[in-house]
Amino acid sequence: MQIRQARHSDLDAMWRICQAVIAAGDALPFSDDFDLETFRSHWFGSHASFVAVAEAGIVGMYKFGANYPGRGAHVASATYLVSPEAQGRGIGRALVEHSLARAQDAGYRAMQFNYVVSTNAPAVGLYRRLGFDVVGTLPQAFRHKQLGFVDAHVMYRHLSSQSD
Ligand SMILES: CC(C)(COP(=O)(O)OP(=O)(O)OC[C@H]1O[C@@H](n2cnc3c(N)ncnc32)[C@H](O)[C@@H]1OP(=O)(O)O)[C@@H](O)C(=O)NCCC(=O)NCCS
Repeated sequence: MQIRQARHSDLDAMWRICQAVIAAGDALPFSDDFDLETFRSHWFGSHASFVAVAEAGIVGMYKFGANYPGRGAHVASATYLVSPEAQGRGIGRALVEHSLARAQDAGYRAMQFNYVVSTNAPAVGLYRRLGFDVVGTLPQAFRHKQLGFVDAHVMYRHLSSQSD
């Protein structure tokens, strides 16, 4: 598996993964009418996007950039998606590790995830094992497709910088 920068020609494959994850209704705060143009602007706008490519084609992706502009721009944020058929094979871990290295190289001081659904065990477990802490919990912030209202976590990890 290779992780490389996303190209515009990857858009269709990335969109299919996004649609599958949205349809599950258990991880992302987007409704079923989330459209391709909004997806394009999120993934090919100001954020850097990367894809995981295996023999089968594109199996995962992430985007990352500053969590906030200006005086918040030293903290990065990222979103990861792995194709449902390819989950549980280490691709997610590889994407998070890749993004942490990119964030570190770019001089960010921390990485923050603003909205991790508390019942999303693969995501919460993976982030914890890679050094993220739950620094806050938003009560019943997510309307889960099967479980109804569930909590969402804010997760945070410091990154070492040259000035540390
Ligand atoms: C979260 C996600 C990115 C993880 O990617 P993945 O390729 O499935 O994850 P990996 O195979 O790398 O597994 C990551 C870890 O989670 C663990 N894991 C996998 N499935 C699990 C489950 N159902 N429950 C608990 N832990 C699980 C693995 O054992 C692994 O642990 P390790 O790295 O310590 O060995 C992926 O499941 C996904 O795209 N989910 C839908 C979108 C999403 O939730 N994005 C994140 C939004 S915050």
